[in-house]
This record gives sequence, structure tokens and C-alpha cells, in this order.
Amino acid sequence: DGDVYKYYADGRWQKSASGKFVPIINPTTRKTHFKVQACTQEEVNKVIETSKVAQKLWAKTPLWKRAELLHKAAAILKQHRDPIADCLVKEIAKPAKDAVTEVVRSGDLVSYCAEEGVRVLGEGKFLVSDSFPGNERTKYCLTSKIPLGVVLAIPPFNYPVNLAVSKIAPALIAGNSIVLKPPTQGAVAALHMVHCFHLAGFPKGLISCVTGKGSEIGDFLTMHPGVNCISFTGGDTGIAISKKAGMIPLQMELGGKDACIILEDADLDLAAANIVKGGFSYSGQRCTAVKVVLVMASVADTLVEKVNSKVAKLTVGRPEDDCDITPVVTESSANFIEGLVMDAKQKGATFCQEYKREGNLIWPLLLDNVRPNMRIAWEEPFGPVLPVIRINSADEGIHHCNASDFGLQGCVFTRDINKAILISDAMETGTVQINSAPARGPDHFPFQGLKDSGIGSQGITNSINMMTKIKSTVINLP
Ligand code: G3H
Repeated sequence: DGDVYKYYADGRWQKSASGKFVPIINPTTRKTHFKVQACTQEEVNKVIETSKVAQKLWAKTPLWKRAELLHKAAAILKQHRDPIADCLVKEIAKPAKDAVTEVVRSGDLVSYCAEEGVRVLGEGKFLVSDSFPGNERTKYCLTSKIPLGVVLAIPPFNYPVNLAVSKIAPALIAGNSIVLKPPTQGAVAALHMVHCFHLAGFPKGLISCVTGKGSEIGDFLTMHPGVNCISFTGGDTGIAISKKAGMIPLQMELGGKDACIILEDADLDLAAANIVKGGFSYSGQRCTAVKVVLVMASVADTLVEKVNSKVAKLTVGRPEDDCDITPVVTESSANFIEGLVMDAKQKGATFCQEYKREGNLIWPLLLDNVRPNMRIAWEEPFGPVLPVIRINSADEGIHHCNASDFGLQGCVFTRDINKAILISDAMETGTVQINSAPARGPDHFPFQGLKDSGIGSQGITNSINMMTKIKSTVINLP
């Protein structure tokens, strides 16, 4: 089985004793493109044991040295941009240029994290006791940020590299070790990224990457007593993980149903451009994609026309050809999307384009006159299908947005900044974008979901802080 990619543990590339592999199906050809090791629970135990030992030493490594190694890894990652991007094209059908952008963005994220880490972690606090009633100035409290231990990182298929390093880099700069469980689709890109960290010369065992079936090692990893923190990005699995995990800090970024509210005074060209970019880039497979358009009825016809003329220009086809719309990640995902489309059809939505599908490739589709009784009004397709709901007041839009179980991001288009701020305050989402589509980046901005969209806040600074604990030393004076 020489063609099965090895997993990474104890600073070495290893074969699993299971003798089994997990196939990675190319979404475009629907044929097995790569194979990765199906690691066993015993192997996971060993990895976590090694990780624990490595972390203790790493925590004692000077902060500037940790930063230096991260900068080195970032540079190597950028040098390996093309082969890694190629894996993303084959494994997750990400359009060629976006695949390159993902790797470059990842290198930048790692560097920024190293810089931010030396500042955030390089200072603590000094408190005196006599500010609290009843105390004399007899106690001095010194605080610093200490690592949590072993951080388990589970990124999703849509950013197997970027959403891995957004967990790895903060964990490492803060003195933690990392166990990475990449998504099956995207595992080889992730392994290649890990290779860049290997080449940078991080100590053995500090970074591990285990591949395998979720059913075999998923719960085993997330419920493992040796894991001190979980940073997960993905779907509903995150809710199950949160319920099963032990008493450890969790960082969860789950789904979204990001609403785009368009008021009567909006710049409709700007709104249409953002709806198309926000709704259809990477074929809608982003947690921050625009997933429902809530437009004032008086401008709806004009807006829909503008959006449709832009949808008509989207190229559809192979990721290698850098098409805008590429096959969705799996056949079951395509089937799910189709289910939402058929439900909307049956309940009377207006199809702005003809529904068309070949294999995993689904042509971009705008569904107008969607009503709350349709599944697509609430569920996230994670595909190139976008519902439009016509509203008669901003309040109606806010109400729809807040009735969702999700609360990741939202956006509002208006020329009236006061209205925009009031709507932003009323929307129950972690972020509201004014006059732009939702997006996670720039990667140092806080990124968080309310309700079922997540736990905690990401963004470089928040992730570094989240992966530490405060330690106090109190000097008691006579
Ligand atoms: O899919 C979830 C990602 O965190 C979204 O990131 O806004 O940069 O596409 P993005």
C-alpha cells in the first residue's frame, strides 16, 4: 500500500498498524484520488501521550524562539504553495486561484500569529490588594498566561489548510502542543501543510496529525482525557462534541444561515455584487456564505434582475480551470442540496434559472419568492443555491434572521448609517457587516457565532487568549 499517505506522529511519517486506509474521492471525477491511513485508537493514545511530553518542554521554550519557528513554518508554507493548492483542487474541488489564496492566507496567518503572540503573551498584570475594601497594601498579584496543554484541532473540508493553521499557530505560540485531525476531504493538503511545520524544525511530538474514520477515532479523540482543549470548525458534529467533551475549553465554529438585508435606499449594484460573491464563491460552501437574501419588496425586482445578470456570468465546471462554480464536495452533499431545491419547487418558489446538476456539479440557482414554509428558508444548503425572501419592513428581515437557530454573521445594505447600526444591534449574530457580504477575514478580526453557530470567539488574538489560562502568583508582605 505504498500509495497510502502516512500519518505524522513523534516527528515521523508512519503507517497505521490497522493496515486500512480511507479513500479520498475527487469531487470532480468522483473517483478515489488519494488514500490516507486509518489510524487506530491505540495509535491515538500514543500520539496524545507523546504530545503531552512534548508540550511540557515546549512551554519552557522562550517565546521569541517559538515565534521564530512559526515564522519559518510560514515561509516554508508559502514556498509549498503550489503543490498544496493542487491538493485542494483535487480533494475539495476548490477553484485553482482560491486554492492558492488559501495557502498564502495561511502563511500570513501563521506569521501574524507569531507577531501577535510575542505581544499578547509577553506581558502580564500586576495588581495590588488595597483597591478592594478591607485590604491593606500587603498583597501583590502577578499574572501571566500559561498554556492549556494538548490542543485538539479539527478543521472542516472547506478550508483544510487555513482553518487548520488558524488553530495550530495560536496553540503553538501559546506553548501548547497540537493534535490535528484533518477532514477526510482535504487530509492530504493538511498533511502537506504539516510537512512544512516538520521542515521548519519543531520538536518531535509537538505536532501530530492523525487521519482516519470519524466513526473509529472521532469520539475517541474528542472524549480523550489527555486532550485539554478542542478547537473545532464544522457542522452539527460540533454540537455533539460539545455535549460529550469533558471540562475543557471549547472553541466551536459551526453552521450559519447568514442573512443579507437589503433596504430601499441600498446601492443595489453593490448589494448584487456582494450577494453573488457572498452566495456563490466556492459554490456556497462557506459557513459565512450569504444564505438568505431578505429584500424590501419595492426594490426586489430590480435587485433580483441585477443578481441574475451576474449569476449568468458565473463560469461552471472544473476547479482546474478555475471555474467559479465547481462540484460540491460529496455526492451526499449534492443530494441534500437537491432535496432543498425540490422542496422549494414543490412549495412554489420562483426558479430564476433552470435547475441543473451533473454528478456533484450543481449550476448556480437563485430562488425567488421563497416563503417561511420552505426548508431552504432555514436550512443551509452549503451549495450554489440562494433563496430570496421579499420583506415589507426592516423589522420583518430582522425577525427572520433572529428566528434562525444559527447566529454566525449577517449583513445589511443601506446608505443610512444610523439605520445600519440599529439593525446591526438588533440582529442576533456574532458579526454584522454593513454594506459588504459576510466574511471571516481579515484573520485578526474577532470571529464568533451566537446560538447554534458556535462557542467562543476566534480571530488570531482571541484564539491565542482562548488557548491559555491565567496563572497568578501572590506575594504576601509581612
Ligand atoms: O467556512 C467557514 C469559514 O470560517 C469562512 O471563512 O469567510 O474566509 O470564507 P471565509
